[in-house]
Amino acid sequence: MTVPARAASDGADVVVTGGGLVGLAVAWRTAQRGLRVSVVDEAPGTGASYAAAGMLAPVAEAAYGEEALLALARLSLERYPAFVAEVERAGGLPVGLRTAGTLLVGFDEDDLRALLALHDFHRELGLSAVRLTAGACRRREPALTPRVRGGVLVDGDYSVDPRALHAALLAAADGAGVELVRAPVAALAVEDGRAVGVRLGDGRLLRAGAVVLALGPWSGRLPGVPAGAVPVRPVKGQVLRLRGEQLLSGTVRGLVRGRGAYLVPQSDGRLVVGATSEELGFDGRVTAGAVHDLLHDAAEMVPGVSELELVETLARWRPGTPDNAPLLGASALPGLVLATGHHRNGVLLAPVTADLVAEVLATGSFPAAAAPFSPQRFQAVDEQPEVAAL
Ligand code: GLY
Repeated sequence: MTVPARAASDGADVVVTGGGLVGLAVAWRTAQRGLRVSVVDEAPGTGASYAAAGMLAPVAEAAYGEEALLALARLSLERYPAFVAEVERAGGLPVGLRTAGTLLVGFDEDDLRALLALHDFHRELGLSAVRLTAGACRRREPALTPRVRGGVLVDGDYSVDPRALHAALLAAADGAGVELVRAPVAALAVEDGRAVGVRLGDGRLLRAGAVVLALGPWSGRLPGVPAGAVPVRPVKGQVLRLRGEQLLSGTVRGLVRGRGAYLVPQSDGRLVVGATSEELGFDGRVTAGAVHDLLHDAAEMVPGVSELELVETLARWRPGTPDNAPLLGASALPGLVLATGHHRNGVLLAPVTADLVAEVLATGSFPAAAAPFSPQRFQAVDEQPEVAAL
């Protein structure tokens, strides 16, 4: 692509395929840089963004061996309050940012041991988290069961209502001049070895100087995307929404006899209970077993859950990559830029993804923070171009 990504003719400078949180945030930030941006999505915000609980919890969700991802996630969290304020101002809608922190709790000796091992990891990395006694956990969240054995409080983790954020981002993007094309994308259009736009379901070609692939778990399957260039697979998550008395002030994550579950209050008063993590491809069934296990574990942690109304059961797919980290920036195909593969962290990583990808599109330069997430990292060394193709 030429830099900045300018269209050769009267098409858009940039077409973003996928109007979920990541795609919209990228489109909005890119339009703010003065580029003409279109987003193509038949039903924006109905994929993973619709199922997500909205935890902004890099510390609570920190995992061994994922320190680079943790650094990116913390950078994104740092940007979240300003991002939300700007989206709310531009979109004219509230987003439901909660700064109440995340409480991690354990139920038996083994759960507590696992939690304390995570806490040791937090301390090794200098992350802010404090150990709480069972009593202190219950003083913080009185709806917790008296059987809780102890916990760890991560004060600096937040949460947001992903559906409210999506609605506000749609309005903000519209206000910044982003064109939303509500149509199915049939294929990536490639001419002379470069991406030149997208072909819509009705055969129309939308030309653009650059194409951003933000199709979540479908990203690698779009016809025209080179085989193997986007190593993303669907990781099924089943999730519930409950309605009734407000039981919690912030996110509670529990280990219930070795099984993890989380409860996240939303700005509309609902409580999200999640989630399974299943390698079943695009299986969209909500299963009795999953609903049973999620409700069982949620009620073990917070007995009052049993009195709430079950208003929604849902299955969607996280876009998983081989190392659980996203694919950000130029792909091996000139003109094709990736903003996908966010796995469990799409909501959290939306602000930093948008900033980094908008920078690539507007200047052609690859910000240092994005370097570990280059899509080229999965290519064999002898296939890697000397200079990342923009
Ligand atoms: N980040 C929560 C999940 O993917 O279930």
